[in-house]
Amino acid sequence: VQDGSLIPRFGRARRDPSLAVLEGFHPLKHALRFDAELLEVVCVDPDQLARLTSTLAGDVAERIRALARPIEREVFSQLAPLPPATGVISLAARPASDPLSLLTAERDAPAVLLEDPRDLGNMGACVRVSAGADAAAVLTTGSHDPWHPDALRGAAGLHFALPVCRLESLEALRERSGPLIALDPDGEELDPTTLGPHSILAFGTERYGLSDELTALADRRIRIPMRAGVSSLNLATSVAAVLFAWRLAHPSGQPPSRH
Ligand SMILES: C[S@@+](CC[C@H](N)C(=O)[O-])C[C@H]1O[C@@H](n2cnc3c(N)ncnc32)[C@H](O)[C@@H]1O
Repeated sequence: VQDGSLIPRFGRARRDPSLAVLEGFHPLKHALRFDAELLEVVCVDPDQLARLTSTLAGDVAERIRALARPIEREVFSQLAPLPPATGVISLAARPASDPLSLLTAERDAPAVLLEDPRDLGNMGACVRVSAGADAAAVLTTGSHDPWHPDALRGAAGLHFALPVCRLESLEALRERSGPLIALDPDGEELDPTTLGPHSILAFGTERYGLSDELTALADRRIRIPMRAGVSSLNLATSVAAVLFAWRLAHPSGQPPSRH
């Protein structure tokens, strides 16, 4: 591939549902750790990349050295709206996931459902904490692509650590296995010992919370206790609070380390 043709290639990839654009070093590191298929890795300075890799991710240093090829700084600066400061950008294939089978399959950890999340960085933070807590999957509804490069950046590329996909409609939830638990500041108080591994934990959109449709489908509504006067937590913070409350209440569950 000629350097110049990388510009339209990366531009098209941002809108291609079969590809993932990995802006920067951390998304590349996690993509490699979690077995992504890397299609292109380009950098401005291989020596700088080698130093970064040996400091932060010695386990994938050899693979990054073999994959990364240097390109002109002028071309690199046009491969993303905000070229990553770490001087590396990559393309990977998105792993295929089927949202319906994720909803109906037996799970050994809760799945996270984000209803119409609006902020791509926040969406990425939800994926990151879900991967850290070893949740079963992250499903989203609404118009935003959970694999948008900004969400991948916010997740440090941890989309490759668990299934992440968009659900076209809430109708599919009628076929679910396990209880649907809505996180709602007006629900009953959270008792993490009652959260089973088959649960689907649903979180509402940033400004308006859960829709009436989702609330009507839910088996239970639970709240994370907060100090009086605080109306709600940030979306990713509430995902973190519930998943880690679940993890800490079930210490004999699967260890959070598939790798
Ligand atoms: C920023 S909040 C939405 C705030 C919205 N005004 C509301 O009242 O729900 C985004 C989502 O995080 C979850 N959330 C935030 N704080 C929560 C709490 N204390 N208990 C349960 N869920 C919470 C809910 O799922 C909520 O829909």
